[in-house]
Amino acid sequence: MKILLTGGAGFIGSHTLIELTEAGHEAVVVDNLDNSSPISLKRVAKIIGKEVPFYKVDIRDREGLQKVFDEHKFDACIHFAGLKAVGESCAKPLEYYENNMNGTFVLVDVMRKNGCKNMIFSSSATVYGDPAIIPITEECPKGHCTNPYGQTKSMLEEVLMDVQKADNEWNIVLLRYFNPIGAHKSGTIGEDPKGIPNNLLPYVTQVASGKREYLSVFGNDYNIHDGTGVRDYIHVVDLARGHACAIDYASANKGVEVFNLGTSVGYSVLDMVNAFETANGVKVNYKIAPRREGDIAECYAALSISDPNASALEMKEGFERAVGRIKCALLSPAVKGCSLDGIDIKRGDTVGIIRNKIVTSDKKRIGCALTLIGMLVSDESSLLTVFRGKGADRRESRKITDAVRERYPRLEVYEIYSAEEIYPYIFSAE
Ligand code: NAD
Ligand code: UFG
Repeated sequence: MKILLTGGAGFIGSHTLIELTEAGHEAVVVDNLDNSSPISLKRVAKIIGKEVPFYKVDIRDREGLQKVFDEHKFDACIHFAGLKAVGESCAKPLEYYENNMNGTFVLVDVMRKNGCKNMIFSSSATVYGDPAIIPITEECPKGHCTNPYGQTKSMLEEVLMDVQKADNEWNIVLLRYFNPIGAHKSGTIGEDPKGIPNNLLPYVTQVASGKREYLSVFGNDYNIHDGTGVRDYIHVVDLARGHACAIDYASANKGVEVFNLGTSVGYSVLDMVNAFETANGVKVNYKIAPRREGDIAECYAALSISDPNASALEMKEGFERAVGRIKCALLSPAVKGCSLDGIDIKRGDTVGIIRNKIVTSDKKRIGCALTLIGMLVSDESSLLTVFRGKGADRRESRKITDAVRERYPRLEVYEIYSAEEIYPYIFSAE
């Protein structure tokens, strides 16, 4: 396929170029170089063994963009171009709304006029605001963003959904990235922002290399093990591969789909500093500073049980993390067989978690679910929620809820099917 990459000279775009080429696609880059340099494209060319057509165009420039479409017939667009710094967006809201919103409006309009209606959009975990559910699933309520940058992503998701609703020839994949870090194994491209880095890792590398004196750790009074903010750091090459998968997905599936791109593991700022020091044998000086405006305490993705590539151990770890602070069971269909906690799980079983234990709706194991719920509910508990995860079979999850109702008649048991509905119950169940 021939794919347009807006913002393709940037950090994620340059890594994605390599993965798309390896997957057999042809790419063209449009970038205004506001936060990048054409050198990254030269280095990509060296890695992939060919030049990538590049146009220094601002996507808000309708005529400039049309000229690119006059020269190429695109099958799809991966839309990276945008301003992305959480803190800066609080100081410069107008610039963020203007660039991110207007840029996308012009791009989508030019795309449809030229008959290109497949888009992969760089959205962000910031759309979840201060997340209602940790770890975060795609069903987590979104839209109450804590900063203007997140608002632009959330609003653009709505705009793109409306565009698709009005014209079902559009296929749109919204990718909500967590925190991409790292670099291509060649070491020739990576994250090299202009000016003072806003993101943690490029700042840490500049302190380590002596370019900056110390890192300011924004807040150590969050309710976290060491008080510093927790994020889900995903390797940029894994993220880049996610885009090649999203292109395949959009060609095979109609409509709009949303995917989180994270690892399901959260690390604090000091965890990251310590890991960096250990891995590189260097010291990273830091000072504790006040919290940064627009920041939240923690943000990491849930590992979906539906991930067919997850190993049994990853699934187990994902389940254990997924239950977190939520006093409820999550149910989801198993996509492959495995054995966890001594329980054999068959493909298609409805599997769930209660606290940190695995349950399935198989008759033999409902007993085990009931024992676990017994451990979970205290004398003061009056409410339990069973949350049917995306794709899980309603009848199967009903088996567990019915069995719980019978065994614990004093409990009010709710079976919930959507994130909006579950939200108030999670907290009343705490
Ligand atoms: P980046 O700044 O390295 O890349 C973005 C590119 O877009 C830059 O090269 C910039 O010059 C270009 N650009 C900005 N406005 C433009 C415009 N009006 N016209 C043309 N080009 C323009 O950032 P990145 O980390 O590669 O992020 C890519 C996308 O992913 C962004 O949309 C960002 O919001 C989103 N995202 C990034 C992260 C992250 O932590 N890096 C997390 C979630 C989402
Ligand atoms: N941090 C510091 N000092 C710094 C920079 C960051 O302590 O100099 C802390 C932040 O307070 C936060 C963590 O490091 O706790 C990560 O901060 P980043 O700025 O690296 O990343 P954010 O989570 O704020 O935002 C990033 C991208 C967004 C994206 C979001 C998705 O910048 O574009 O991840 O989770 F939307």
